[in-house]
Amino acid sequence: MIVGVPQEIKRDEYRVAVLPVGVEELSRRGNRVLVQAGAGLGSGIADHEYLKAGAELVATAEDVFSQADLILKVKEPQESEWPLIRPGQVLFTYFHFAAGRELTEAMIATDAVCVAYETLEFRGKLPLLTPMSEVAGRMSIQEGAKYLERPQMGRGILLGGVPGVAPAHITILGGGVVGANAARIAAGFQADVAILDINMDRLRYLDDVMPANVNVLFSDRHTIREQLQLADLVVGAVLIPGAKAPRLIQRDDLQMMKNRSVIIDVAIDQGGCIETSRPTTHGDPIFIEEEVVHYCVTNMPGAVGRTSTFALCNVTLPWALEIVKDGIDEAARRSKSISSAINVYRGQITNQAVAETFDLSFSDTFA
Ligand SMILES: NC(=O)c1ccc[n+]([C@@H]2O[C@H](COP(=O)([O-])OP(=O)(O)OC[C@H]3O[C@@H](n4cnc5c(N)ncnc54)[C@H](O)[C@@H]3O)[C@@H](O)[C@H]2O)c1
Repeated sequence: MIVGVPQEIKRDEYRVAVLPVGVEELSRRGNRVLVQAGAGLGSGIADHEYLKAGAELVATAEDVFSQADLILKVKEPQESEWPLIRPGQVLFTYFHFAAGRELTEAMIATDAVCVAYETLEFRGKLPLLTPMSEVAGRMSIQEGAKYLERPQMGRGILLGGVPGVAPAHITILGGGVVGANAARIAAGFQADVAILDINMDRLRYLDDVMPANVNVLFSDRHTIREQLQLADLVVGAVLIPGAKAPRLIQRDDLQMMKNRSVIIDVAIDQGGCIETSRPTTHGDPIFIEEEVVHYCVTNMPGAVGRTSTFALCNVTLPWALEIVKDGIDEAARRSKSISSAINVYRGQITNQAVAETFDLSFSDTFA
């Protein structure tokens, strides 16, 4: 099979879909791997590293798309890439179809096979989403620390305090992958941390594994309001699968918060869990509402492209190898995980949620 790796062209995107070790594994199995020159530079991977691993370098995205049977990418195809996609070509990448009818209709029209990282299920989990939540969770504390600094508009608070001065209080809403990773890093900074969730089993687990400076609390309106009065930093990390994030903090609630405290609303990619949140970019990440600094970047992992590339490629490669082994049709027949990731198959929507979102017809080929 010919596997193609184009350079990512979405704004603020520095990741690449394959590491040199991935090229080596694919080549060793008899596949040709075409990598667009410069594709790895955003993640600090030079062209010669791909060449050494057995890749063929090509100059343009057109060269990649016109030859490859399987395209490995990170973000959904951008508009300029749509005309390059060929009928029957397999695309393995994040699509997040529900976010855009235009993309969905464009992919249907290409007659390609769209295999989406975000819906690939394995043992009841979504393993190709987890590493990005780990990155965003850990990063939320790093960004929170930065924006609490006075020159960055914050309150002028050092997370860990110093002997004689209290540490910052950090409230984390949601104790899933993002929340648990945020809590662990916050605890390491010696901050005073509270993590809130509604899932009692999850709270019991977190209580077992978290260090002593992390308190585990049930999430209800009273506790959230109490926490807002204490917090220097609030991390929004709630998720109700398949739904918009619940609005746990209303505009009026912000009056209770200290001036220039900071909110990092990681859940902004699902609409955000704070009424005053709106999406921002790495180029212009914060704004102030009701005297509270808001950071609402929708693709946080993009800023730490190298870490994110390695974290993503570690989990995507085994599935890419499955696809190249016998082709997508056979891989989907063999593996429920692969079939769960196929959202569009040659002009048909094969993911029920995507079909329902746009009121389009659903094909149960892979159900
Ligand atoms: N901005 C970014 O760059 C970025 C990156 C990765 C993930 N995310 C987003 O972060 C969010 C969290 O992701 P995750 O992987 O941690 O999800 P997860 O499913 O692992 O965790 C979500 C947690 O929220 C809890 N929850 C639900 N309702 C709640 C409530 N009312 N109060 C408190 N907790 C509640 C759930 O019980 C669960 O434990 C998602 O919206 C995800 O898309 C954003």
